[in-house]
Amino acid sequence: MIKDTLQQNEDLVPNDKQLAALKEHFPACFKQDGSFDLERFKAAIADKTNVVQEGYELKFLGKSYAKLLASTDTTTVIQPDEAHNSLPENANSENIYISGDNLDGLKHLLKAYSKSIKCIYIDPPYNTGSDGFVYQDNFNYTKDSLQEKLSISEDEAERILELTKRGSASHSAWLMFMYSRLLLARDLLTDDGVIFISIDDNEQANLKLLCDDVFGEENWVGTIIWKNATDNNPTQIAVEHEYVITYTRSKSLLESEWKSKVSEIKQLLVKKGDELAEKYKNITTLKAEYNSWYKSHKSELWPLDRYKYIDSGGIYTGSQSVHNPGKEGYRYDVIHPVTKIPSKQPLMGYRFPKSTMDELLENGKILFGEDHTKIIELKLYAKEYSAKLSSIIDFDGRIGSYDLKDLFPNSKTLFTNPKPVKFVNQFISFVLTNKEDIALDFFSGSATTAHAVVQLNAEDGGNRKFIAVQLPEVLNPENTSQKAAYDFLKENNLPTTLDYIGIERIKRAAAKIKQEHPDKELDLGFKHYTLVEPNQNTLDKLESFDGSALLADTTIMEDFGKPTILATWLNADGYGLTATAEEIDLAGYTAYYFQKNLYLIDAGFNLESMKALLGKYDATGHFNPENLVLFGYSFPDWSINEMIEKNLRVLNDSEKNLKINFAVRY
Ligand SMILES: C[S@@+](CC[C@H](N)C(=O)[O-])C[C@H]1O[C@@H](n2cnc3c(N)ncnc32)[C@H](O)[C@@H]1O
Repeated sequence: MIKDTLQQNEDLVPNDKQLAALKEHFPACFKQDGSFDLERFKAAIADKTNVVQEGYELKFLGKSYAKLLASTDTTTVIQPDEAHNSLPENANSENIYISGDNLDGLKHLLKAYSKSIKCIYIDPPYNTGSDGFVYQDNFNYTKDSLQEKLSISEDEAERILELTKRGSASHSAWLMFMYSRLLLARDLLTDDGVIFISIDDNEQANLKLLCDDVFGEENWVGTIIWKNATDNNPTQIAVEHEYVITYTRSKSLLESEWKSKVSEIKQLLVKKGDELAEKYKNITTLKAEYNSWYKSHKSELWPLDRYKYIDSGGIYTGSQSVHNPGKEGYRYDVIHPVTKIPSKQPLMGYRFPKSTMDELLENGKILFGEDHTKIIELKLYAKEYSAKLSSIIDFDGRIGSYDLKDLFPNSKTLFTNPKPVKFVNQFISFVLTNKEDIALDFFSGSATTAHAVVQLNAEDGGNRKFIAVQLPEVLNPENTSQKAAYDFLKENNLPTTLDYIGIERIKRAAAKIKQEHPDKELDLGFKHYTLVEPNQNTLDKLESFDGSALLADTTIMEDFGKPTILATWLNADGYGLTATAEEIDLAGYTAYYFQKNLYLIDAGFNLESMKALLGKYDATGHFNPENLVLFGYSFPDWSINEMIEKNLRVLNDSEKNLKINFAVRY
């Protein structure tokens, strides 16, 4: 277990992964003594690549340190929330919520979900100076070890340690924090996977260059400008937007044209409208025919289910875009055609001057309510609907807080600036086109992304899965921005850490969706895991465990907990976090079986258990584990291990032609 990991981490250097990739693809460039032949490498790539001398790159203090952190393995274990995970709605769920630091979370995920995530959306701390971002870590590197591992000067090693131990919110600290995480995140993406990253002006320019470094400049898909606010107190330039920087793993494998599912619905509506208008020239019949079709197809039309009207020009809806947003607009009367009284004006007046309104009226583009008490609307035909992902999204940022308020009507602000569900869905829906896709958010916050994915499934009956990672930040009731969340969790007898706001949000969003879509088969549950660092007492026991004592230390297994060992191993062996091992009885000894692996975790495996195991290989057709994995602290007695190995050899040599491996993990 952890002891093996600590050992491996000792020997690692930051470029190990890159070197391994080079060795795999360019073996001829490495000499026998391990040295690298640069000239040979240049020759190997020369005909297709223009080798440049004057490249440029983003440099910052701690860049190589961040690489080192990305290449070492996590020393945390995965503790399943057994009570939660066994509830009926969660038992078979494939959605995942991880409470823990995302650096550890990403490292665990990479063991089972490498190249499996279709879409990542993250909304990291923006480093605004007031968002609480401070980089600090507790890795135990000394000045000497850093100097040696990173090949840096004593002065640089000192400055890195100063930054990581004292805590810093400098640009370098933020870049270091993001770099290690993005390096890991990239490897989770499928070849055509896409990452969307929210950011504002504080780090936008740095993040763009950092992502060029991680994903490759050629894999930049674009940057979305989100017009999310109105700046009523501008200094020089009124800042009313932020960004969503977008990269893919491999642009050449990205779908050549992004079409949202909306474009299919739009086409359906346009086609239906044309068909009906062609067939029914009488407007009353036309309306009646469309009305009946609309009613029976409404559930399939989201987000265009507001297109409930038809005329000879096609299917249309009414839009509130006559309203002037924010500030005072144009004021004039628009007379209602039946009551002959001016229609009620929007709160801030009209968006267009009177001349434009007259033109719209003349072209039949204005819709009136039943009488003048209703505000007029703009007539929008389905054929005018834009289904592309525009580089500019105009969407009120306050809606994120309204989304939360809707789910927690009796609470004050539980989370500052959550993203609106519809805003997130506006871009992730262009990538999550396959109904089985997995989406990841490793800065989950109030779990907007998880909510957005479940909402997307509710709308089209999909089975997309979400993975959310959130730091269990301890909430402080003295901090005004955390007090409401603290009080809410306390009142509900929940742990007062931020991850439980996300957990509760997903539960409430799921309940609401269930109510709105009672007949749909949806995965509305999730499995919950917490990443736990073994405490010093356990670490001391691991350190001092003496295999030759012949005595199992069962307290080590109890310290971790059997479910934790199993969950950590199943994931580390590539089976993921939602795999459930089957209990196998071997003459009173319980082993755990999943696909190719049989896990022996408890102490007490003896000759009788071995005989039962051999009998199972013999008798049960589907029972055929290829690997026997032992929890070393429960198997200190080498005579037992030798007995197992000997019997496996006999089995391997039998005519069944088996090849069973044997591994002891510490
Ligand atoms: C800007 S918020 C994300 C808000 C989210 N998009 C929403 O709509 O609610 C960033 C979140 O990342 C979390 N976070 C910061 N550092 C983290 C880390 N190392 N691991 C996991 N989560 C982290 C913070 O606690 C915070 O909740």
